[in-house]
Amino acid sequence: MPTNIFAHRGASGHAPENTMAAFELAYRQGADGIETDVHLTKDNIPVLMHDEQVNRTTNGAGYIKDYSLKQLKQLDAGSWFSSAFADSKILSLDEFLTWIRHKALYLNIELKNNKIDYTNLETIIYNRLAHYGLLHRSILSTFNPNSMMRLKKAETDTETALLISRRFKHKKLITYALDLEASAVHIKYRHLRQRLVDRIHQKQLAVRVFTVNELNHMVRCFSMGCDAIFTDYPEAAVQSRRQFNN
Ligand code: G3P
Ligand code: MG
Repeated sequence: MPTNIFAHRGASGHAPENTMAAFELAYRQGADGIETDVHLTKDNIPVLMHDEQVNRTTNGAGYIKDYSLKQLKQLDAGSWFSSAFADSKILSLDEFLTWIRHKALYLNIELKNNKIDYTNLETIIYNRLAHYGLLHRSILSTFNPNSMMRLKKAETDTETALLISRRFKHKKLITYALDLEASAVHIKYRHLRQRLVDRIHQKQLAVRVFTVNELNHMVRCFSMGCDAIFTDYPEAAVQSRRQFNN
């Protein structure tokens, strides 16, 4: 199976991350899927942003959890990247799902609950995906093991992936993922080893790698048989995969 290419926060190398401009571009560039990060607003609405606070990627300040969706919509989520994107807005998960539902794209919804453990984030997201009929092509991922357990308890029939940011002994990492009943492990590029990929595959789990922006790193992932990469540059990854497969 060829390695799938997920646009990390959209085509975030060329447009402001987690905005419609970044998602549209990723789609046009031929990505197989979109990775995005989700938090909850004060009024319990799932919205797309990487950080817990709006400071880095908007003209506002403070925590998402202290804003209503209506207040967040006042912010400019594009100018920090380039003045050409000054009209970019923070998106709700619903806006994103409405956009993606008629496109042949996979979704990786990353639950950003490793710093703030938002109440009911798992069921809120699951219900939105079910509402749009998107469960069969969605992956729910998180760094938070408690959240993984809650996803399993809810007996969701969607794919769940454990995100790993630190170095683990391979055996320990696999036991950790199996205990949490993950269907995949998402690892950092710097921890990628052929032995690890093979051992994860032996347990019938998928291996996806973040964040892979260098061409030679992409090729290494393709040649190791990784199931997917997350990249800020989907166009370059699509080209590189084409060359690799020829
Ligand atoms: O989901 C892969 C990757 O996005 C995890 O790290 O910090 O970029 O959300 P981060
Ligand atoms: Mg992410």
